[in-house]
Parts: sequence; structure tokens; C-alpha cells
Amino acid sequence: MTVSSDLIADDIEAYLERHANKSMLRFITCGSVDDGKSTLIGRLLYESKLVFDDQLSALEADSRKSGTQGEGLDFALLVDGLAAEREQGITIDVAYRYFTTERRKFVVADTPGHEQYTRNMVTGASTADLAVILVDSRKGILTQTRRHSYLVSLLGIKHVVLAVNKLDLVDYSQEVFDTIVADYTSFAQEIGLEGFVAIPMSAYKGDNLTERSALTPWYSGPSLIEHLESVDIDDSTQRSPFRMPVQWVNRPDLDFRGFSGQIVSGTVQPGDAVRVLPSGKSSTVARIVTMDGDLAEAGAGQSVTITLADEIDISRGDVLAAADAPSPVADQFEAHLVWMGEDEMLPERPYLCQIGTVTVQARITKPKHKINVNTLEKTATNTLALNEIGVCNISFDRPVPFDPYTDNRDTGGFILIDRLTNGTVGAGMIEHALRRSDNIHWQSVDVDADAHSRLKGHRPAVLWFTGLSGSGKSTIANAVERQLHALGAHTYLLDGDNVRHGLNRDLGFTDADRVENIRRVTEVSGLMADAGLIVLASFISPFEAERHAARELIGDDHFVEIFVDTAIAVAEERDPKGLYKKARRGELVNFTGVDSPYEAPLRPDIHIDTSVTTTHDAAVIIVDFLRARGTIS
Ligand code: ADX
Repeated sequence: MTVSSDLIADDIEAYLERHANKSMLRFITCGSVDDGKSTLIGRLLYESKLVFDDQLSALEADSRKSGTQGEGLDFALLVDGLAAEREQGITIDVAYRYFTTERRKFVVADTPGHEQYTRNMVTGASTADLAVILVDSRKGILTQTRRHSYLVSLLGIKHVVLAVNKLDLVDYSQEVFDTIVADYTSFAQEIGLEGFVAIPMSAYKGDNLTERSALTPWYSGPSLIEHLESVDIDDSTQRSPFRMPVQWVNRPDLDFRGFSGQIVSGTVQPGDAVRVLPSGKSSTVARIVTMDGDLAEAGAGQSVTITLADEIDISRGDVLAAADAPSPVADQFEAHLVWMGEDEMLPERPYLCQIGTVTVQARITKPKHKINVNTLEKTATNTLALNEIGVCNISFDRPVPFDPYTDNRDTGGFILIDRLTNGTVGAGMIEHALRRSDNIHWQSVDVDADAHSRLKGHRPAVLWFTGLSGSGKSTIANAVERQLHALGAHTYLLDGDNVRHGLNRDLGFTDADRVENIRRVTEVSGLMADAGLIVLASFISPFEAERHAARELIGDDHFVEIFVDTAIAVAEERDPKGLYKKARRGELVNFTGVDSPYEAPLRPDIHIDTSVTTTHDAAVIIVDFLRARGTIS
């Protein structure tokens, strides 16, 4: 199974050629150090001779010093040394290790097995073709085995190996092995795992790892490496309908227009009919262009440039699909969501969502339920915390082509990104599209926003005042409205305290409620601006994400973000409603600035520093701004 070092020495070209053409298997190992996971990976690396000589002598020395295996080599030290280093870092991510045999190249994702590392396991599993689930023969199927198996099934890994390890410690007992396999079989059925291959093993002794062991004569299946080398992974993606998300439009000159990307499923040939999504336009493949010349056929995993017979408008993020089996297109879905952010998920907050090669804005509804990964029990919840998994509805700001995740992991999986930190906060798996938006269309109206505005004699605007409670937002907004009114402008002032008596009476001051408060106010402001009004919205609106969403909905031309900047000490000193005092006494929780955050605007259109600007001057600055922008004359 090892790399033929003779060939490397004799004919490096031939070796490289053979190596380059080997197929690649990505797999994940699930289990904890106690199950022998590190020993397993360590031995695979060792047997494939990719452990370098210097590492090997260090391993011999370490094994003598701190190994747990007497005189033998402690392969776990190979892996755990790296793991320990990793764990000192702030984020523990996934360690990918590479090794190769005569027949295949392998990438193994090694993630910690504990529940608090669920997000790491999800990351490692999301690209894996196969999972090795380790079980200690002395312990059998444990809670963690169930958790790992559930995640493996959720993430759509079709090939599962149940590695019944440490068989040397139960005298290579067939009975022990059979009992564990029977237990696992019924559990696998419960969670919908389609099938698995069970291998009796001792990673430490090397039994059935690379070669079949004489100590398990009752076992006639393959060794682990034989199975890893021969399992057919390409089959199902190649047989699925053709999909290629367009990464970029390749247009070096006027005569050539190709669409580049990686084929994620199926195969394609010149002459094939394709449908471009989401537009739905059809054409025929003219050429499949690569660096090494045109191809007669290309399939899943290959990166190519495709030219079409017709001139169609296609941009990055579109998907080329088989015309007779195109992806559906939708903007609302039910999905499984694994939360990976340190901060809990906020329903209705706009997150960025990457699906295929496109990035959209997405909002998630309150979860339908969350799933206990150990018991698979479903419970009601309002949110998802780090490492929690739930089922939610999610809506995108535009329709995208997709496939259910179980059909296609590439076009059915997505990740969510926090706008502010740019960090990945969630991973999702589309179950199906929601049809509820299908029957609701936009009704066109004859008297539109422009018509309203003409009658008013000025342009609409949304003046968005943000700042701490007691910063002076409402006072300044009031003064601005008086001036505008005196100038004959049509205005309306939406104020946090007032709106919370009616429209938003059902909302409190948790982060989630504030997100919803601002979402509704944004929608109302948008409608009022459509009606031609100059809207003054005065809300703490403590989060950048929601203010950004307000700007996006209203549009840059009409949106004016005004930061009423007052130091917390000053606002607290004023305390017009006595709320700071209450909050300090602990009688009011989640009070902004005390025990709830305020994210100051990064680039407000107008910044009013109330320590140097009077209310009157602030109003003049804002009205002048509207004049300069052409909102009023
Ligand atoms: S926001 O954060 O959701 O934008 P909003 O502007 O609607 O808040 O309401 C803020 C007003 O509610 C404050 O001016 C204050 O009078 C009152 N209030 C009551 N409880 C709180 C609280 N926990 N945090 C902030 N304001 C509160």
C-alpha cells in the first residue's frame, strides 16, 4: 500500500504522473482519543510512509518517554502533539492530514469528538465522502457514537465505516463484534443511515488496518485501508443531473465568452442542452475549454470553462444545469441549521448567506425546534446557541437555484456569515423550498412613489436617528420635524417609546426583540417614504446589522443615518425617565449601555456630538443636509 519509493528514484516523471491521476478520498474520523482515534490516524500516516524520518525518531523517543504502549511506538503521539498545539489557539478548527497509497490519495479531517466541538466536526464532515466511526469494543455504542452518527447522516455522508476498535482487549471476540454491529444496525435504521461497513480492528496492534488479521479468522471483509482504497465515491455525484455554479464569466476578448466554474454533479458534453438558472433561459453547450485543450466530456469535480451556442446574459452565481433536469429556483426554504457562532442566532437578523458561488442576504425565522444531538429529541426554542442544531425557515433576498441537500450537497448546502465580524456563524442544509411565497405577487400600482412625491413638492426620505437612551434623539428629531413642517414638508415622526405602545407592544428588549422591533419599523418607514413622506425614525437601534438592513431596504438615496452621540455618563446623568437608575439597581435588565450593547455607527451620514452641538444647531445641520441632497428645496 505504500508509495513506491523505487519508482520515485527510477522515474520521477512516471511517479508524479501516476500520483496526479489517483483519485482522492476525503474522510473524517469520529471518536475521541480514548477510542483510539489518534492511534488510528497516526498508524495510517506511518504505514503510508509519509511520516518523515526526523518525525519518526522523535516518535520513538517520545514513545519511550511518555507513550502509553510500553516498548511499542505510540502512534497517538504523532497526532496528539499537533492536537495539543492546536488547542492552545483561540479557535480550534479542523486538522486535515494527507497520506497516499498506491491506489488513492487521502485527506483525513481530524476533529475533536466532544460535544462542544460539534461545529468543528460539522466543518470537517461537510466535505467528507466517508466517515470512520470509532467504537471501543469494551464499551460498545455510546452516546457520542450516536451523536457522531447523527451528524454524519445529517451532513449527507453516504459511506460509513463502523470501526470496532481495541479488539485485542476483548480477545478478538466475534461475539463482542457481532453484538456491537447488531446494536448499531438498529440505531442506523432509526436515523436513516443507509448502510455501513463494520470492521473489527485493533489500530494499536495493526489488525485489519492495512492487512487482514489472522487473529480474526471469522471476519471475511476488507481491511480498513482496502475498503478506503476501493469504495466507490464518484458514482452518485456523476450520475446526478449536471450542475455547474458559475464562478466567473471569462471574456478575454469580444470573440470569446466562457463560463468558468467547477462541475459539482453530473457530466456534460458539447451539444448538451442546458438551462441557465435562475433566469431559466436555455442554450446548448458549444465547447468545454480547459488549459489542456477542449474536452469531449467533463464531469463532477472538474474545473472547466463552458461556451454556449447562444448569447445569453449570465453572471457569477448563476447555475448551468441539465435542461431536462434543472434545479428548482426559490427564495424561501426549510433547512437544518447548525449554529457555529459564539453569539446566539437572532431570528430576522439579516445574515450573509453563501450558497454555491452566490452571496445573498438571508433572514432566519424562529426555529421550529432544536434537536438534542445525544437523544435526537426535539424541543421548542426561540433561538440556537453555539453548536446547537435546529430546523428553521430561511428566506433569501432573491431567488436562487438549489437542490435539496440530500440530492446535492453543493447546491443544497449553505453557510451563514455575520456582516460585522465576517465570521461563519452557521451551516445549513436545505430540506425543501417553501411554496408560501409562490402565490403572492407584486401588484403594480399606477400612483407610485414618484407620483406621491411630485404631489408633495419634495422628495421622500428616512432620517434614522440612532443613539443611547437619553442621548437626545427624540428631542433633536422633534426640532427637525418642526422646522420641516414650517417649510411645508410632509413629515411623520416614529418614536421608539410610542411605537412600543401599539405596533410593537408585543416586543421587549432582548436582542431578538430589538431586531424584530427595528425590522418592523424599517418596513413601516419604507411604506411611509413610498407615500412621499419625510420620515423621522428615532430608535436606539443598537445593532449595525439592522441599521444596515434599513439602509438597504430604503435605498442609499433616501436613507440618512444620524448618530446622536452622547457619552453614556452624560446620558446617565440626564436620565430623563429614571431608567438608568432602575437598571443600575438591577430592577431593569437588558438596558442599553448597562447590560446590553450599543454598536456605534461606523459611517453615519451625520454625526452629532451633543457635547458641542445644541439641539437647535443639530436641527439646522440636518435640514441643511436635506437641502444639499435635494430632498427639499
Ligand atoms: S431599540 O433598542 O429596540 O431600538 P427603542 O428605541 O425601541 O429600543 O426603545 C427604547 C426606549 O425604551 C428607551 O428610550 C427607553 O425609554 C425605553 N426602555 C425601556 N426598557 C429599556 C431597555 N431595557 N433598554 C433600552 N431602552 C429601554
